[in-house]
Amino acid sequence: MKEKILVLDFGGQYNQLIARRVRELHVYAEIKPYRGITPEEIKMTGYKGIIFTGGPNSVYEKESPHYDPAVLKLGIPVLGICYGQQLMAWMEGGTVSGADHGSEYGKTVLELAEGEENPLFSQIPSESICWMSHTDAVTRTPAGFRIAASTENCPCASMYDKERKLYAVQFHPEVAHTTYGRKMIENFLFKICGCCGEWNIDDFVERSIENYRRTLAGKKVLLALSGGVDSSVAAVLLHKAIGQNLTCVFVDHGLLRKDEGDYVEETFRKAFGMNLIRVNAAERFLRKLAGITDPEAKRKIIGTEFIRIFEEEAKKLGKIDVLAQGTIYPDVVESGKGDSAVIKSHHNVGGLPDVIDFDEIVEPLRELFKDEVREAGKQLGIPHELISRQPFPGPGLAVRIIGEITEEKLALLREADEIFTEEIDRANLEFTTNQYFVVLTDTKSVGVKGDARTYGYVAAMRAVTTEDFMTAEWARLPWELIESASRRITNEVSGITRVVYDVTSKPPATVEWE
Ligand code: XMP
Repeated sequence: MKEKILVLDFGGQYNQLIARRVRELHVYAEIKPYRGITPEEIKMTGYKGIIFTGGPNSVYEKESPHYDPAVLKLGIPVLGICYGQQLMAWMEGGTVSGADHGSEYGKTVLELAEGEENPLFSQIPSESICWMSHTDAVTRTPAGFRIAASTENCPCASMYDKERKLYAVQFHPEVAHTTYGRKMIENFLFKICGCCGEWNIDDFVERSIENYRRTLAGKKVLLALSGGVDSSVAAVLLHKAIGQNLTCVFVDHGLLRKDEGDYVEETFRKAFGMNLIRVNAAERFLRKLAGITDPEAKRKIIGTEFIRIFEEEAKKLGKIDVLAQGTIYPDVVESGKGDSAVIKSHHNVGGLPDVIDFDEIVEPLRELFKDEVREAGKQLGIPHELISRQPFPGPGLAVRIIGEITEEKLALLREADEIFTEEIDRANLEFTTNQYFVVLTDTKSVGVKGDARTYGYVAAMRAVTTEDFMTAEWARLPWELIESASRRITNEVSGITRVVYDVTSKPPATVEWE
């Protein structure tokens, strides 16, 4: 790969979005924490440009992330965004001041300065809308810099030193609210950094297959397949490269949705002709989960048992040369600040490397964002319904049954969940609602059917819209849909007497109930 942009991460919330915007313009971008790379390494790697991200700190605080000013002398174009602009000003001897100098939040009118032509704002009207979110601001530009734009409260909304190819903006060009944000990033890449835009998924897929065909020739590769998007795309890609030398192990923990286990088996064994081992371990998981009600305990038990079963299967296969994993880029990227709190112990196959004896690990998707993984899946001929699936948590329905997990509750939940899914499909909302499911609560309630009293579980329908699952809004589903799903669930699933709709966003709630 030739051209690359470095996104130097100072802990801002939009950092992955910045990299995605760059890649959408067909230039490969990688994110590195600011502590993770020195100016010398930046130079050696041959980046065509650098973007300093935003961040929650104030440059004038001692503990805030700072960077070696030598990076501005490398001759590589730099674009500083938000904290990135303040940092650039600070590194070059300008002044940054706090709140009373005009904090701004939200959509703001941006006015370009008159004068010489600034390539960053090429073909952008002199007045447009930008998205601001800052307390500090640059109050004196460093020597050699000109002010390129302003807003009512922010005299230096953008600054630049054209000769040294240093550009900075106080607002966020990466968010959709900045009307010409995409154009500004495009200008930075093509007019300032001189990129050609050669990154695309089709080439990536072909190159990867070619590469693995060579490097994995004659090797025995093992992959844990969940049927989720990431492991499915990784499996098909490797299968195209090495065929039957890839063995996929699919551990069916009995906590999947209705017919899901059979669907996964059917797709990968029959349609793709893969070497697939399905382990039906429902009874084993249910035994381990009997009597357990604590959410974290459930997650831990499922994670541990999953690894144990995978290990047992791997041993049966004899010597494994390579362990393959469906890790994707957001799993790899470390934020510049790091150390975020553990809200839930997510179950994925991250624990496998410790227990399997293998020589090498491959992660074919570790450079890709989720939407790029889906693109790759399409290119590989994976059915649309599989790659466009909503995410499903590793511990499956276990985190959607509050309290103890039993076979009876699993059966109720599967039926209710299927009905809700059918109703969403019928309303054609399956692609605009990012995740939707039913939760079986541990509350029972009285109902009436015919003339008789009923007593059964309360089920909750949950649907969210989100960009990245870090935050999510409860979906404003049409009342008619809520009504028909509720009526069908209470009529068709005996054992559920009442249905409620979850109207909590994330934060403060999480997407899953446990
Ligand atoms: P939360 O509940 O943390 O969920 O707001 C955010 C997204 O992550 C999914 N999720 C998981 N995914 N293993 C996974 O691979 C897990 O253990 C897990 N728990 C939650 C959840 O479905 C949502 O899409």
